[in-house]
Amino acid sequence: MTGRYQQIYQRSLDDPEGFWAEAAAGIDWDQRWDRVLDRSNPPFYRWFAGARLNTCYNAVDRHVRDGRGDQVAIIHDSPVTASITRITYRELQDRVARFAGVLRALGVAKGDRVIIYMPMIPEAMVAMLGCARIGAIHSVVFGGFAPHELATRINDAKPRVIVSASCGIEGSKVLKYKPMLDAAIAQSEHKPAHTVIFQRPQVTAELIPGRDLDWAQASADAVPADVVSVAATDPLYILYTSGTTGQPKGVIRDNGGHAVALKWTMDALYDVRPGEVFWAASDLGWVVGHSYIVYAPLLHGCTTVVFEGKPVGTPDAGTFWRVIDQHKVSVLFTAPTAFRAIKREDPRAELLKNYDLSSLRALFLAGERSDPDTLHWAETHLKLPVIDHWWQTETGWGIAGNPMGIELLPIKYGSAGVAMPGWDLKVLDVALAEVKPGDIGAIVCRLPLPPGALLSLWQADQRFVTACLTDYPGYYQTGDAGFIDEDGYVHVMARTDDIINVAGHRLSTGGMEEVLASHPDVAECAVIGVHDDLKGQVPLGFVVLKNGVDRPDAEIVGELVQRIRDQIGAVASFKQALVVERLPKTRSGKILRGTMQKIADSETYKLPATIDDPAILAEIEAALRTVGLALKTGAGEEPERARG
Ligand code: COA
Ligand code: AMP
Repeated sequence: MTGRYQQIYQRSLDDPEGFWAEAAAGIDWDQRWDRVLDRSNPPFYRWFAGARLNTCYNAVDRHVRDGRGDQVAIIHDSPVTASITRITYRELQDRVARFAGVLRALGVAKGDRVIIYMPMIPEAMVAMLGCARIGAIHSVVFGGFAPHELATRINDAKPRVIVSASCGIEGSKVLKYKPMLDAAIAQSEHKPAHTVIFQRPQVTAELIPGRDLDWAQASADAVPADVVSVAATDPLYILYTSGTTGQPKGVIRDNGGHAVALKWTMDALYDVRPGEVFWAASDLGWVVGHSYIVYAPLLHGCTTVVFEGKPVGTPDAGTFWRVIDQHKVSVLFTAPTAFRAIKREDPRAELLKNYDLSSLRALFLAGERSDPDTLHWAETHLKLPVIDHWWQTETGWGIAGNPMGIELLPIKYGSAGVAMPGWDLKVLDVALAEVKPGDIGAIVCRLPLPPGALLSLWQADQRFVTACLTDYPGYYQTGDAGFIDEDGYVHVMARTDDIINVAGHRLSTGGMEEVLASHPDVAECAVIGVHDDLKGQVPLGFVVLKNGVDRPDAEIVGELVQRIRDQIGAVASFKQALVVERLPKTRSGKILRGTMQKIADSETYKLPATIDDPAILAEIEAALRTVGLALKTGAGEEPERARG
């Protein structure tokens, strides 16, 4: 590659300070930086040290100042409530300032944490921006998580206030949020001083006098709060994501680097202009929602769509096309699973014919590997570039992709594109040597990471170093394995740890095993991710019961399924567990989860040389056959796993 992309990419590696200082011109600063990149305390690098700014001011107020006050900032398109609401930048400024005033009146100050546990409504964005306005640190918890997961995050983040709503709406189901919030607070050791509850018309939540405030009432009474200037290096938010255990990782994002990087991506990666409509069909509780429903489009002066519905069933597989047509969406960003769902319901894309999609210029996919079938289907019917790009909660934006705003490179099915500017990617083997193009290894990124990537883990610097920076000294370990081909295209193939991807949602099988192991009848267990045509992967449990347990297996399995629902959430899609006599292990006692997964997915595998008792594999195969999973044996290796 010798084109524009290659030049820009090379410059970003040769002169990161110069490169990102230029990008920083896209942001309004209260005070300029002393150093673009502070390298004084490796591996804790800091971007724009000494600078001051306010992220909310950059995302909202400055657009009003610059004449975008009457432009729509947020379109809330909610097929589940049959409503469409438009909020201009001026209205957003007023709502955010009022809500920031509510938080301030509750004693929330710069650096305090606020947990936001809300459905896909604009008030969730108002709450996020309200925190940013006064320098408070928000931590949004995905609405599909159960009280136990919420409690874990409450204990870790220790919020002064929790913001929630009376209910969420999932398809035709109305889910009451307040009882889940109350249960989480009851379970948590840390107790927030207050909650602020947005009452939706579908359900009125009961408020506890003195602790719980009604959003509408509190906002009406509030004194609007002005923006607070914060250091570029101050945290903007904590976003918890699955690690290898039940204890989630609290990824910390800064204000300055984050604003610079995200604003820059809107031009360079997505090729979107201020004033255009950008739609990330994700959830505010995930990193894609943070970066591309809230911050990047607003920092860029775009109109962002908040969609409260599903790709199918609300009301049909034409919903995405209707939203694009009705709101004149320029760029759509979603997970491949959403397109698999549409393709399954409407394989010939008949519903597409009812809509005018002429505003749409590109479809971006991320969250899981885009299977070539789905990519091909989307490309055939949309007749547009369909771009897979790879990123993580930790990185905050695309590590690899196809930078449409710089140069649209040829699309290779099965690859997530080329390394994005700022990301110095390598593929290393276990001896830390770089492998040949095309050979599989651990995908790592040379430090320092570009702006917008995580600063550390919340109050867990050592965990950050151990989990991400130790195995490959000098590099950030992505946890993904894959290869880079002769043309520099990155192919992300699998995780090297126990994280699985279920309908674009990142989940820890280790966390699920902790829940199964806590059942009184379970002696031992393993959870693996098995292939699913719609969701990419779904979890499957294997349990060995304690001696003397003589209850029917089905009864115990039912309890295990319910336990995961109650403790992790419905979003885990944990529907099945198999009772087995023993689990396959190496002689040193490591459970052979990789081999079990290959058996379940009908992939070829080699009998691991270190296996304790090969006969157990036949038992696992037999158990899998009972649930209709096909099998065959052959060559292949047990991949490296993080846990024993
Ligand atoms: N609040 C409460 N519950 C939620 C929830 C939320 N925000 N999100 C999901 N759930 C529940 C669902 O209701 C469902 O519950 P059920 O088992 O009682 O039916 C369960 O969690 C699983 O949900 P989901 O994985 O969404 O499956 P689905 O069958 O309802 O829908 C898809 C399948 C593919 C249509 C859907 O997963 C989808 O649109 N995925 C795209 C995801 C995405 O955008 N990811 C972001 C990465 S960019
Ligand atoms: P999350 O932190 O929830 O964004 O999940 C990040 C993980 O999702 C990555 O580490 C990958 O395993 C997977 N992932 C995300 N995007 C892609 C992609 N385009 N191709 C392959 N895997 C992806």
